[in-house]
Amino acid sequence: KYKGIIFDLDGVIVDTAKFHYLAWRKLANDMGFDITLEQNEQLKGVSRIHSLERILGWGGKSVSEDKFETLMASKNEDYLARISGMSAEDLLPGVKKVLDYLYENKIPFALGSASKNARPILKGLGISEWFTAIVDGNDVHKAKPDPEVFLVAAEKLALKPEECVVFEDSVAGIEAANRAGMLSVGIGDKEVLKGADYIFADFTEIDLEFIKKLLESKK
Ligand code: BG6
Ligand code: MG
Repeated sequence: KYKGIIFDLDGVIVDTAKFHYLAWRKLANDMGFDITLEQNEQLKGVSRIHSLERILGWGGKSVSEDKFETLMASKNEDYLARISGMSAEDLLPGVKKVLDYLYENKIPFALGSASKNARPILKGLGISEWFTAIVDGNDVHKAKPDPEVFLVAAEKLALKPEECVVFEDSVAGIEAANRAGMLSVGIGDKEVLKGADYIFADFTEIDLEFIKKLLESKK
């Protein structure tokens, strides 16, 4: 039986994935190239460092270590400006209903995000306290698709990996969940997330009956 849930943040709980894309795209455009939506799928769930490495590779650019740091910092500044003023209204549709259900039924849930901005974002949304544990880009050394972030989250929930369900919108995150031995639920495009055990376009397609059945099911 599944006893706990681990949620990714960007693109699952809150609609920040588009702002990561816009900020990276601006960085690329400033350097004279572009990032396609398809390429962006390969950036979702990927740490800040690895994202920039990948992007510079696509653009055929190599930069000094200092410049690399400056680019990461300015992307983050741009990203933070784009998400400033976020509130509980920016939770993705259908998410609150699921979190409320879990909270009321004492089913523990954790955050498992690659983002170093995860804590202030959850705080801004006013939902930090609902999470039994928060594991983010500041807590782990190995980025998704490595399962570390989810394994640490399971540990903090005091659950075995095989007792956890992961909700993810990224290819890297689904791979990480599968490698962790957890049940994976993809939020997004069926073709892109085909490695997931279940796939939904968004949370409005998920009803509480599904969550209930999911928690009672076995892999
Ligand atoms: C992931 C996002 O959640 O976090 C990526 O999907 C992002 O797009 C990564 O690059 C790191 O986020 P941050 O906020 O630390 O730059
Ligand atoms: Mg995500």
